[in-house]
Amino acid sequence: MDFVEVVKARMSVRAYKPDPVPREVLERVIDTALWSPSGSNTQPWELAVVTGDKKEELDSILVDCIRKGVKPDPDVPIPQDIPEKMLARRNEVHAKLGEYLAPPEPGTSYPLEMFRFFDAPVAVMVWVERSMGDYSTFDAGLFVQTLMLSAVNEGLGTCAERSVILFSNQIREFLELPESKKLLLGLALGYPDPDAPINSARTDRGTVDEFTAWLGL
Ligand SMILES: Cc1cc2nc3c(=O)[nH]c(=O)nc-3n(C[C@H](O)[C@H](O)[C@H](O)COP(=O)(O)O)c2cc1C
Repeated sequence: MDFVEVVKARMSVRAYKPDPVPREVLERVIDTALWSPSGSNTQPWELAVVTGDKKEELDSILVDCIRKGVKPDPDVPIPQDIPEKMLARRNEVHAKLGEYLAPPEPGTSYPLEMFRFFDAPVAVMVWVERSMGDYSTFDAGLFVQTLMLSAVNEGLGTCAERSVILFSNQIREFLELPESKKLLLGLALGYPDPDAPINSARTDRGTVDEFTAWLGL
């Protein structure tokens, strides 16, 4: 695949084959992502790859939080004041996904499969040292994008999920992380199920001019 093909082939995959992902494949994906840039080459990202019994344990911790109505307390606050244009894009995606995801159980507000990482065989959790501040979040974002593209290059799919860090304290406890670690994002990872209807849901993008100010040309 050439570079543009990889970028455009990446999509959020929300249904996976149960096939395990070999460790050497995961190591290649991570090794490529480690070549992401970061401020002063600080490489502030840290991650856990969770599979097998430990993944089942993590899924059930998160699903329990939802079912028991535990108050979300994410390390990265959920945006409250979303500009109209972006709100419209968000609503469009939510409406599209709503056609495929099971509705939340009564008394809960999220589709449960999100908290099982859409039953992917692998969950990846990403965090940084809290004292590294906002720029490390930017660095980690670059790392995560390279990780997702590297996964596509290996025939894998991913779905970045901020929903799975809603319960940061419970995850920190599970991962045995100190309070100084700021959880940023989780990812589902595995081989995409091409027959699952939800994987046919596609998002679109605006035009170059919609986002770009051209100065001097
Ligand atoms: C930081 C971040 C957090 C996200 N959190 C979730 C999530 O919690 N649940 C989910 O289903 N998708 C989540 N997504 C996936 C986005 O909905 C998706 O990237 C967006 O709609 C564009 O679609 P695409 O990834 O298929 O191109 C997240 C993506 C990003 C980058």
